[in-house]
Amino acid sequence: MCGVVGYVGSKQAADWLLDGLSTLEYRGYDSAGVQVVSQSGNLHGVKCAGRVATLRERASVANLNGTCGIGHTRWATHGAPTDRNAHPHLDCTGRIAVVHNGIIENFQDLRRELMAAGHHLRSDTDSEVVPHLIEDALAGPAAGDLARAVRNACERLEGAWALAVVCADFPNMLVCTRKGSPLVVASTEDGAYAASDVMPLANVTSTVMQLNDYDVATLSADGSVSIVDRDGVVIDHPSTITIDWDASAATLGGHPDFMAKEISEQPEAIERLLSGRLGEHGVELDELSLTRDELAAVDRVVIIACGTSYHVGLVAKCAIERWARVPVSVEYASEFNYNQEYLVTDHTMCVVITQSGETADTLAAARRMRGMGCNVFAITNVIGSTAAREADGALYIQAGPEVAVASTKAYTAQMVASYLLAMRLGFANGHMTREEVGRRFAQLETIPDLMREVLSRRWQDKQASRLFRDKHSSLFLGRNVSSTTAYEGALKLKEISYQHAEAYPAGEMKHGPIALLEPGFPVVAVVPADHVHDKTVSNIQECIARGAVVIAVATDGDERVAKLCQEVLWIPQCADELIVPVVAVLHLQLLARYVARDRGFDVDKPRNLAKSVTVE
Ligand code: M6R
Repeated sequence: MCGVVGYVGSKQAADWLLDGLSTLEYRGYDSAGVQVVSQSGNLHGVKCAGRVATLRERASVANLNGTCGIGHTRWATHGAPTDRNAHPHLDCTGRIAVVHNGIIENFQDLRRELMAAGHHLRSDTDSEVVPHLIEDALAGPAAGDLARAVRNACERLEGAWALAVVCADFPNMLVCTRKGSPLVVASTEDGAYAASDVMPLANVTSTVMQLNDYDVATLSADGSVSIVDRDGVVIDHPSTITIDWDASAATLGGHPDFMAKEISEQPEAIERLLSGRLGEHGVELDELSLTRDELAAVDRVVIIACGTSYHVGLVAKCAIERWARVPVSVEYASEFNYNQEYLVTDHTMCVVITQSGETADTLAAARRMRGMGCNVFAITNVIGSTAAREADGALYIQAGPEVAVASTKAYTAQMVASYLLAMRLGFANGHMTREEVGRRFAQLETIPDLMREVLSRRWQDKQASRLFRDKHSSLFLGRNVSSTTAYEGALKLKEISYQHAEAYPAGEMKHGPIALLEPGFPVVAVVPADHVHDKTVSNIQECIARGAVVIAVATDGDERVAKLCQEVLWIPQCADELIVPVVAVLHLQLLARYVARDRGFDVDKPRNLAKSVTVE
C-alpha cells in the first residue's frame, strides 16, 4: 500500500526521494509523486499515475532543486489512480505539501467544512483535507510552528495516517506523524530521513527510530530529529530498530526477479530460524510472554491472519492439535473483526501470523483479542512492526526482507515457526516428552536439504507450466494438510499470473467443482505419500475420467501417480506428513512463477496487489 518517504539535509532531496520510492515499489502502488522545497522558499513537484520510472522521467526535466522534500507511492482507495489524485497534495496557498498513507475516515465531513470556509480542494482523495487543515492551523493557533500545526490538524482526523509534511516557509524542516499506519525516521550525518518502512533506509543507516501513534517528529537539515507525543511532551529516548541485514539483502543479487531470489532463499531462512532453538525447555521460545504453567493451561488457540499467512494458520492448526492436543480455530482477520459473538475461554491464546506485521485487519483483530483478555503472540518477519510491538510476545521468523508481493520464504518460515510454538505448547502441557520434541526437531532440521532438492528440480515446474498456456482456469486439490498446499498454490498462481485457480479439498470436488472439468482442463493434485494418498488418487482418477490434465505433486517412487498423471512435480521422501507442506509448496511457487513469466507478467509487482495491506 502507499509508501511515504521524506528527507531534509545537505544532499539534493529528489535523488534520494526517487530512489526511496523505487525501494518502496514492492508495497504496491498505482501512482507516485515528489515535492521539494527550494532554498528560495518555493515548492516544486511532479506527480503522475503509473510507475516510479515515469516519475523519474518527469523529474529529470523539472526543476527539483532543494535539500528538503517528500515523496509518495499511492495505492488508490478514494479516487481513481490519476495524476490529479496522486500525492503530494497542497493547501490553497500552494506552500504546504503533504503525503499520506492510510484512510481519513471523516474526510467527507472535513471536506464539506473546509469548502464551506472557502478552501479550494482539487482531488477526489481523502488525504487532501490534511494540507488544508494544516493551512488553517498555521494561520491561527499554531502560527509559525509547523509541528504544532500538524498536531492540531491531526486532532481533527479519524482513521489511520502516516504523514510527511513540508512547507515552503520552513525550507529546512520536515514534519512527520503517524496513527495506525507505519512510519519510521532516522538521523544521520548528512540529514534526517523518514520512510514507511526500513527498506529505503538500509543504505543510509542501521538504526531507525519508531514513532508511536500521535507522535510528531520534526526532522531538521542538520540531521537531528526531535519527537513529541500527543500532548507535546518531548520523547527523549524513542524506541529504535536495528537493521540487522545488509542493504544488499534487498537487491536482486543476480536473480532475474525478487520472487526467484526469495524462493531460492528458503533453505537458509529455515536454518536461521531453527538455529539455537533446541534446549532445556524442549524448544526455546523466550519470545512467549507466558510462563510454563500459563502455557500448560492454554485450552484453546485462536489463529488470526490474512492471505498466505492464513494458510500458514491452517497448517499450524494441524501441528498444534496433533502435538499439543489443544483445539485450534483459524480465522480470517477481516471476518473475525465483524463476528460479534466470538467466544473465548479464560485460557485462550491468540496467535496472529503476519509477514509484514502491518496488515490492518490482523492488527485490529489482535487488538480485539487483547481487549477480550487473551494473550496475543505474533509470528512476523518485520522487526519492530506494529504487530510485534503491540503483541504480548513476538517471534521473528528472520526470513530477511521479502520484496516480491507474492509471499514465498515468509510462508515456509512462518509454518516452521508455528511448529516451534506447537512443540513448546506440547512440551509445556505434557503431551510431548523431551525425547519427542528432540525427534520432531530433528525432522524439522531435514527441511532445508529437502527444499534444496526440490529447487534442483525446478525444470519439472517449467515443463509443467506449458499445460497452463492458453487456459483460463485450473483446479488445485489436496487432502488434509495438503489441501492447504493446494490453497496456497492456487493463490500464488492467481496473484502473479492473473489466471483463475480454484482450490478445494480433494474429496469435496464431487460436490460442485467437478462440473468445471472438461478435456484439457488443468488440475494440480497434491498427493504425497501420506495416510490419505489412496483417496486422493481416486480423486485424480475422477478428474482424468473427465478429460482433465493432471499435474501431481507426489513423493519420489510413486509409480501409480506417475502412470496416471501428465506431469509429476516430485518431492523427496519426508520424515513426517507435517514436513510435506513446507517442502511441496516450493514446486507450486515455482510453477506459478513460470506460468506468470510465460504470460509476460512482472512477477514481483502484480497488478492491484499491495505487499503490506494497511487499510481494512
Ligand atoms: O503481511 P501479512 O502476512 O499480514 O499479509 C497478508 C496477506 O496480505 C498476504 O499474505 C498476501 O496474501 C500475499 N500477497 C500472498 O502472497
